[in-house]
Order: sequence, then structure tokens, then C-alpha cells
Amino acid sequence: MGAHTPRSKTEITGGAHVARQHDSAHKHVTGSADYIDDMPEPAGTLHAYLGLTDRAHARITALDLDAVRAAEGVVAVLTGADVPGVNDISPTGRDDEPVLATDTVLFHGQPVFAVIAETRDLARRAAKRAVISYEDLPHITDVRAAMEANYPLVTDPLKLERGDIAAGLSAAPRRLQGEMRIGGQDHFYLEGHIAMAIPGEDDEVTVWSSTQHPSEVQHMVAHALGTVSNAVTVQIRRMGGGFGGKETQANQFAAIAAIAAKKLNRAVKIRPDRDDDMIITGKRHDFVVDYDVGFDDSGKIHALDATFAARCGFSSDLSGAVTDRALFHADNCYYFEDVRLTSKPMMTNTVSNTAFRGFGGPQGMLGGERVIEEVAYALGRDPLEIRKANFYGGPGRDLTPYHQTVEDNIIERVVDELETCSDYQARRAEIIDFNENSPVIRRGIALTPVKFGISFTATWFNQAGALVHVYQDGSIHLNHGGTEMGQGLNTKVAQVLADEFQVDLDTIRITATTTGKVPNTSATAASSGTDLNGMAVANAAQQIKTRLVAFAAEKFNIPEDQVEFEPNHVRVGNELMPFGDFIKLAYQERVQLSAAGFYKTPDIHWDRAAGKGRPFYYFAYGAAVSEVSIDTLTGEYQVDRVDVLHDTGRSLNPALDIGQIEGAFVQGMGWLTTEELWWDDKGRLRTHAPSTYKIPLASDRPKIFNVKLADWAENREPTVRRSKAVGEPPFMLPISVLEALGMAVASIADYKVSPRLDAPATPERVLMAVERLKAMADEQPAENSES
Ligand code: MTE
Ligand code: HPA
Ligand code: MOS
Repeated sequence: MGAHTPRSKTEITGGAHVARQHDSAHKHVTGSADYIDDMPEPAGTLHAYLGLTDRAHARITALDLDAVRAAEGVVAVLTGADVPGVNDISPTGRDDEPVLATDTVLFHGQPVFAVIAETRDLARRAAKRAVISYEDLPHITDVRAAMEANYPLVTDPLKLERGDIAAGLSAAPRRLQGEMRIGGQDHFYLEGHIAMAIPGEDDEVTVWSSTQHPSEVQHMVAHALGTVSNAVTVQIRRMGGGFGGKETQANQFAAIAAIAAKKLNRAVKIRPDRDDDMIITGKRHDFVVDYDVGFDDSGKIHALDATFAARCGFSSDLSGAVTDRALFHADNCYYFEDVRLTSKPMMTNTVSNTAFRGFGGPQGMLGGERVIEEVAYALGRDPLEIRKANFYGGPGRDLTPYHQTVEDNIIERVVDELETCSDYQARRAEIIDFNENSPVIRRGIALTPVKFGISFTATWFNQAGALVHVYQDGSIHLNHGGTEMGQGLNTKVAQVLADEFQVDLDTIRITATTTGKVPNTSATAASSGTDLNGMAVANAAQQIKTRLVAFAAEKFNIPEDQVEFEPNHVRVGNELMPFGDFIKLAYQERVQLSAAGFYKTPDIHWDRAAGKGRPFYYFAYGAAVSEVSIDTLTGEYQVDRVDVLHDTGRSLNPALDIGQIEGAFVQGMGWLTTEELWWDDKGRLRTHAPSTYKIPLASDRPKIFNVKLADWAENREPTVRRSKAVGEPPFMLPISVLEALGMAVASIADYKVSPRLDAPATPERVLMAVERLKAMADEQPAENSES
């Protein structure tokens, strides 16, 4: 090529690493984004409503549905006996989760039958008319009670072990034990569960489902219908939030809609109301953590033995993987010389708990951070010093309890930068001063780090597919196996595709996820949506580009390296052709302009039985400083200021990443402060509406909220454009809020007693902790329960 070769001057709009708003932002705020309930209903659509049990554990002795059948508008009533295939939607194939309960009910609110009627309102009214007789059986809802009663585990426990825990504990100069209780959380997605099934010919059915996992819904619908996967197509354009609550929980609604649709040969839609959605579907697992830690006067932790027991509910669902991930995160950023971590996935007579942002990781990490706090208060030191003393380091201090070496550690740099830019030390000193002279209002500050493992721990889930079409006019159709739930996955993946072809982002049309275009997908979960699908899309684009380059080289008789994709143009030797013109030409020359892409994460493996492997491709890091003030007379508090520094590698889209961090922070703060789930002695969930379950309001957000990306960071692994996953890791940053509340409480006893604030730290719990410390401070110089 000559030196005078013309160059296209402009850059594309919306390539990789640029801040762009969510592709549907304007539709979200104007109400023109279509969710399933906004879709036009096919003529004759029927509506389903679920009939729920009002017993926590009982044998059904008689099921009288005559009055339901006789009710106005009712077309059919389905029970477990009407499931034509297998009455099971267990995602792990354990056969422990019926679509509709038959002989025995295992939790208060379990669906027993479904009413299908001309309208949703008529179906809902009719459902109330069932007469069910029971023989009650003993029930257990609490995790500790389940352990004491030797209630079964819902799945095999995991043990991670390294070193000699008994020797390590007994040799440590100091030692203490304790218990932490960590609450669950409702997902509170804005759009609740919904499915619409449209029957087709023969055994075919199409299901629109608000799901993070269309392939699993497809599989479950086929299983329940007694047919095969190729009869079932599952589609989803977007969810109004999932947060893990639609990884498996959509199966039941989709199965019922599909069974009814095939039985009646009419379209059937099901949409539970908010209360029923909260009662019927699983939540974040609450945990009881028992710990025994050996340490020395410098604050170094020598040995940690901890058990993580979880309230799994009546069935296994994803509880095995959730409790595994809890163990994988109990170390957070810290090296423990001798360590043993054990999970106890306890069965309880409650709704079956499920995935929720962080997937057990937050509960594991919080248990580990409690241990840090205990050591700090026992030694009368700032917990930040204890953290730094225990950070993973180089060889000899870089092995996790699951025997993966931490190779990409940047936590020290993240923490140092945040400590400086947030002015942590000066503010902490000022707060301690303030507290000395403030009888009622007390303040606290805490800096906590996060290290979160990226990859599904079930190695085979780490794969993705994509389908890309370039049409004759140069416009591009983008499809991939991921689902959009507000996180901006589609925008990021489209940016990757725009960058590959060097075309403006608006050249690309994002289309609904469907099992018919990309098969055998994994759930959009584990924060891996962009990592996996972005790479699959890049792979599809590269296949098409390879064909285009070969075609142009031959056609114009030039070397392949003289064909280049430039902004909205393709350079062919000395000629710069508009992208659309080039594509038209390629079409006329019969170049295939469509490709299916694929990606699988390299280098990961996990041997669960041995407790060893490399389950995570890499780690995402971050840290937060939170400052709070509490009223020691009422327990009320506010979050005054939060500073975050978070690592997203080379961010694909800093605007979306910051949005994810802010959203995750506020959601995590809700989990740790105001969101409390409460079951009564009958096993009834009494917090099943926003009137009794308090998610954060706009007014609860930190008064000052500074969120920064570590702009120097880059993934050391060759991920999509060296970016890192962002969906879940920042959910754990608000552990700093809980710990700052703890410090404010601890000021009552001169920071010498561990506040042991359990989560959620509701105002009542803060007040109780204040009272406990006041009583101890009045008695004598306090001691922790050190042995
Ligand atoms: N952000 C929004 N707005 N809505 C959601 O439902 N889910 C979270 C996170 N961020 C969620 C969200 C969860 S639980 C996960 S695993 C990731 O997004 C999934 O999407 P990703 O893998 O594309 O990040
Ligand atoms: N994270 C999220 N969802 C999952 C996982 C995981 O590790 N494994 C199975 N589903
Ligand atoms: Mo997220 S809990 O992995 O859906």
C-alpha cells in the first residue's frame, strides 16, 4: 500500500471500552420496553393461578376441588396427577421438587393445584374455594433447630481443608470461638415471575418465560410434558430484574403454563401476585456460621475452623452449589495457614432457597470478615490493620483453602489507594474523637475488601454460544445465549461486536434470547454473561470476517493483510469501501454472512470430592469505606458516606459498570441492614409484601456516594477485551456498612468488645447490641469469649 493511502477519519460510535447508556434505557424510562405481560395475548388466552397449602409439613388426606371447578370462568383445574410427564422440576435431577405437590406438602405456601380460567381475576377467586384436609407432621424452619434435630441435608456437604487444623488451633497463642447469624433476602425484582405458553402442532409448544435460564426452562417443560427438548422453544427479550431469583425459579411457572396450554390447546399465561411470588419462590439462604480461630498478638490468623450451615428449604435446588460458593469465599482476601471449612446444607420446612447475587459468596465472606473483626476487637486494633496483616501474599502465602493459587492479587493496591483517597485514617481519628464527646449519636467507619471468584464452579457451565447474521444491507442481527435482566449484557456484547466489525453500535440489532437460535446455554449467572457470550459473539464475528477477508483478497487479487476493517468501512488494498457496499458485494459473490460462535473458559477444573482444583478463571477485586452514624437511644442509623474503588479490569463500558457497582452496593446494604425475612411458628412467611419487608428507598442511599473504577486494572487472563465480570462482586462491598455500624456500637465499650452485630443489622438489632455493650461496660473491663 502506498504512503498516500486514504484513511477513514472517524471512530465508530459505541465500540469497546466506551461509556454508553443501556441499549433499552430510553424504553425503560418511557415505558416502551416490552416485558412478557406487555405482549399481545393470542386470541383465547387463558390465565392460571396457583392454589397454595396453608401447612408447613403435612400429609394431604383429601383434596376437594369441586367448588373450584364449579366457579365462574374456570376451564380446568390441574393437580400433580395431571402432569403428563414427570412431576419434577429439580434443576439437579434429584426428583425432590414437584411442579405441584401430591401426597405431602413440605412448606407453607407450596403450590398444590393450578386453576385455569378465562381471566386472571376469576382464576384467583376460584383458587380460594379449595377444601384440603391434612394430617399435620412436625415441621422445622430454623437452621439451628434443624441441626439439633438431625434434620436431613438436602445435598452432600463440602469440606475444604489445608494444613493441620487441630495442631494449628492448639498451637496458636490466642484463640476464640463464636457464632454469627446471617439473614436471607428476597430478590424483589420489579417484574415478578411470569410465563406465557402458546401451543403448537403435535407436541410443540413455545413458552415466553421471565427466566435467566431459557435452556433449563426448555428442558424442564419437556420433562414435565413427557416430551423431548426439540418440541419446546423458550424465549425471553428481557426481565425486569432477576438477581438469581430467575435462575431456577421460573421452571414451575413455565411448566404449569405449558402443561395447561397443551392440555387445553389454548395459550395460557401465569403471573402470581407479589405476595404469592414472595411466598412461592426461593430466596437468599440464611446462614449460621460457627467459627473457632487461632491467632497471635500481631493479629495474624494461624488457624480457622468454621462451619457454614444454611437454611436450604424443602428441596435441594441450587443449595449444593450455593453452600460450596460460601466456602470458596470464607477466605475473602486472607491467607489462613491451617484451615477447615465445612458446609451444612440443612433441609427445613420453608421455601427452597436459591441463587441470589453472590450465590452464597456474600454469606461466606461475611463469616470470614466477622472473624477478622473478632481478632481486631480482641487485640484492641483497627480491623483494617488485621486485614492487612492477613492479606494473601507471594509464594507460601498464596494458596486458598481449595488449593487454587491466587495469581492476580491486586488487593493491597486497591486498599492502599482507597485508604488514601477516602482519607480513611484522618476520618477514623476524627470519629473516635467525636464519639468520646457525644453521648447519644455515635459514628463508625470501616474499610472492607472483596475478592470474588469468577466462573461457575460446575466447570461445564462455563460455555456459551452466539448467532450473528450480517444482512445484505450491512445491518447486523445479534443473538447469543445470555439473558438481559437490566445488567446491560446486551449492550456490552453489542459493543464487542461493533468493535469486531468496526461498525457503529446502531448498525447492530439486539434480539430476544431463544433456545431455537442458540442451544444448550447456561444460566446468565455467576456474573459471567459478558465473559462467556461476549467471547462467543467475537468468535462468530471472526468466522465471518475470515470469510470476508479471503473473499476480498481473491476478488481483488491482493494479500489478505491488505484487507482491513476500518470505522464503518473496509479497506481493500488502496480502496476504502463503505461497510454496506462491501457486504453487498460479498453477498453477490455468495459469501456466507452468518455464523454460530462458541466459547469455553480455558484452564479451569474442580475436583469436589478432593476439594482441590482451579474453580475460578480469575478474581475480581474491590474495596469500600463506609461511614455511619447511629442513635444509641433508638438504634436508628444512617449511612453518611461511602467511597468505593472497584476492579473491572479494562472496563468494556464504565457507565454500565459503575451502575452495576452502585446497584449492587445498595442491594447489599439492604441485605445487611433493613431487609428481614420472618417466619412464624406455623412456618408462615409473614414478610411477603413491601409493607412488611423493607428494601432500601432512594432516601436510604449513602448521603455521599463516590464510586471509582480502578482504571489501571487489566485482566491478566485473555478475557473479552481484558475486562472483568462486575455483576456480583460489588454486592459484598457493603460489608463495610455492617462493620461501620459495629464500630459505632463498639464505641460504647471503648472498642474493646466485639460488637457481634448479626445481619440484618436492623435498628432493633443495633439497639440490642448497644444495650449489651452498655451492660458489659457497666460491669467490668470487657472480655470477648476467648478461651
Ligand atoms: N443487574 C440488574 N440490573 N438486574 C439483575 O437482575 N442480576 C445480577 C447482576 N446484576 C442483575 C444485575 C446477578 S445475580 C448476576 S449473576 C449478573 O447480573 C448476571 O448478569 P451478567 O453475568 O451479565 O453480569
Ligand atoms: N453461580 C451462579 N449460579 C450458578 C452457579 C454459580 O457458581 N453454579 C450453578 N449455578
Ligand atoms: Mo446471579 S445469583 O449468579 O444469577
